[in-house]
Formats: sequence, structure tokens, C-alpha cells
Amino acid sequence: MITLKDVKENPEVIGLIQGGQRQLDALGYTEHSVRHISIVSKRASDILKELGYNERRVELAKIAGYLHDIGNCVNRNDHAHSGAILSYQILKDMGMGIDERTDIMMAIR
Ligand SMILES: [Fe+2]
Repeated sequence: MITLKDVKENPEVIGLIQGGQRQLDALGYTEHSVRHISIVSKRASDILKELGYNERRVELAKIAGYLHDIGNCVNRNDHAHSGAILSYQILKDMGMGIDERTDIMMAIR
């Protein structure tokens, strides 16, 4: 099963996070790189734990939180939409099943 650790180590993910930060730097936004997405990942998992979801759902929330801003690499406008589609394809390439990757896509969007 694909874990947050696998996602963090994926070169496509790393490249898109870095590209998104370059885009936002150019636009004058605050930091949206690893620190920000790690906080969102942790908070998303905390919420699902609090709501009583199982360990796998909590892991998927961590992944969705970590990937939620990669669409900034395309454009800040509608970055949730582009990030959802980018995440879907990356997770497909990594071998994640259709049900899990569609859930992550919807969570990001
Ligand atoms: Fe964000």
C-alpha cells in the first residue's frame, strides 16, 4: 500500500512542490512548501483520527494534505483543481488503487 513516506520520496511530488514554491515566490505569496503541507497533512490526519476513522483512512488524509498544494505549480488560480488531477495521475503511476486515488483527488479538490 502507498504510504505518506512513499509520496514524500516520489521525485514527481518533490519536483511539483518545489515548482509550486517557485511560482508562489514569483507571485509574492508566503511559504507554501514542505513546512506548510506537512502541517496540513498532520492536521488532516488529526481530524480523521478524532472522528474515529481507521488507520488507512487516516493515512490517506495525510497523503491528501501533503499533496493539496501541488497545483500551485500550474497556477495559483484553481490550484485545488489542477492539484487534484496531478495527484490522481501520480498516485496511479505509483500503483495506488482506483478507490483510494479518487478519494484523494476529491479531498484535494
Ligand atoms: Fe495550502
